[in-house]
Amino acid sequence: MSVPLLEMRAIHKAFYGVKVLQDVPLTLDRGEVLALLGENGAGKSTLIKILNGDYQLDSGQIFLEGQPVYFKEPRDAEANGIKMIYQELHYAPDLSVAENLFIGNLPRVAGPLGRFLIDWKQMRQDAKVALALLNVDIDPDTSMRDLTVVERQIVEIIKAIYADAKLLVMDEPTAALTPPEVEMLFDVVRRLREKGVAIIYISHRLDEIFQIAQRVTVLRDGRHVATKPMSEVSPASLVEMMVGREIEARQVELAEQNDSAEVALEIRQLRKAGVFEDISFKVHSGEIVSIFGLLGSGQISLTRSIFGAERYDSGSIFVYGQEKHIRKPQDGKQAGIGFVPIDRKVRGLVLGMSVRKNLTLSNWKNLSRLSFFLPQTERQHSQSWIDALGIRMAGGMEVPVRFLSGGNQQKVVLARWLEANVKVLILNEPTWGVDVGARSDIYDQLEMLAEKGLAILVVSSDIQEVLSISHRILTLYKGRLTAEFNHTEASQDKVLNAAAGGVL
Ligand SMILES: Nc1ncnc2c1ncn2[C@@H]1O[C@H](COP(=O)(O)OP(=O)(O)OP(=O)(O)O)[C@@H](O)[C@H]1O
Ligand SMILES: [Mg+2]
Repeated sequence: MSVPLLEMRAIHKAFYGVKVLQDVPLTLDRGEVLALLGENGAGKSTLIKILNGDYQLDSGQIFLEGQPVYFKEPRDAEANGIKMIYQELHYAPDLSVAENLFIGNLPRVAGPLGRFLIDWKQMRQDAKVALALLNVDIDPDTSMRDLTVVERQIVEIIKAIYADAKLLVMDEPTAALTPPEVEMLFDVVRRLREKGVAIIYISHRLDEIFQIAQRVTVLRDGRHVATKPMSEVSPASLVEMMVGREIEARQVELAEQNDSAEVALEIRQLRKAGVFEDISFKVHSGEIVSIFGLLGSGQISLTRSIFGAERYDSGSIFVYGQEKHIRKPQDGKQAGIGFVPIDRKVRGLVLGMSVRKNLTLSNWKNLSRLSFFLPQTERQHSQSWIDALGIRMAGGMEVPVRFLSGGNQQKVVLARWLEANVKVLILNEPTWGVDVGARSDIYDQLEMLAEKGLAILVVSSDIQEVLSISHRILTLYKGRLTAEFNHTEASQDKVLNAAAGGVL
């Protein structure tokens, strides 16, 4: 019997006396993709942070190729061939791809001057070889800043392989990727497997797990529920393991669109040179409209421009028939537009503040008018959102938001916007990192708001989400609208095809 590449035994971890991991095992073989699954707050990120030396375990043991190991910090894990692939760019956006690949290990010119002179030609050559290794088409001279999210991840992966990584950890690597980009990443993952690299893969998109993983480990409330080969599980059985009971696949029930509904938001001929062009569309009161485009099609810039977070060159924006001159976010707010940006870091959470305070922030005026700021009212109000969206945290609502799991932070962001008193709500990636169960709670809330007359504009990379929650879908390709589908006529193929400029 061969020794597994990695074995974690009986891992325990508590934060402030709250147990977030109890007696958790995990094993991984060479050349294997293991999916790590569980609801928001189940302990997935904590477990891999322990593996990576970010957190220290309270008790338990970690073996690498049969040898006990102890990682005091991420550098120790890296020295042992373990590498985390992050979504965000962590360093050096101005370096070229080639420089980033060989940072700390730059090829030197031969001879006595080698101490001082970097062999740029050699470096570019080496970078080409490295990129070819995984069959990716990226110019080594591009600066990291100009790469798409998936390209950056791939550069990080190649870098890891060059540093002889045996084990890669990907914590929700596809959260902002559309299907073709996910496919590109998966191709790279398959090639890694052939080279014997092992991968721990965390995702809330179940369909991906069936495509890429060989085994799955499910956690629930910090405990190990099961580890199984993918051939022995179904989406329904996985969900049941995650939540601890059977849940029915709930269909989103979109209310019939009222033809006479007022136009809440109208965009006419909006243009930003080189980014988007000739954009005209309407969103009616009570309607949920999604814009779907592949990475870099301009959808993010477009929604930012409508809110005023970015400048557009020409065109006009109307809210309930009135033209609004939107130049800065303050203008967007005054026009009655709410906006959840894509960038997690600026999503409007005060990380050091408690969950309760964060949930009260946008609405505190209402609360204080009601009852000159009764703490009791504030608590009830926060509790109602915690219940509605299933926000979970170790330690209750007084815990700083910083300590919430990724998906639970996302729910707090949304709760704040869902109750903001706006006429038009723009949401970028509304369910980023949110687990399957909580997703349908969020969809319920969106439908309820739409039924009350709110106009909702969504940008999402998740095609299933777009198909199920939208009355209408607009596709964007290279900055231009290419097609429009209503709920009944839209299908994954049609939407993807239009988003790829009709050439898929
Ligand atoms: N540094 C910390 N201090 C206090 N509590 C923490 C800390 N890190 C995580 N937690 C708590 O540990 C629990 C598990 O969080 P973790 O981030 O591991 O969840 P997760 O499974 O990755 O969830 P998600 O799918 O939302 O990312 C949560 O209750 C979280 O609030
Ligand atoms: Mg997490």
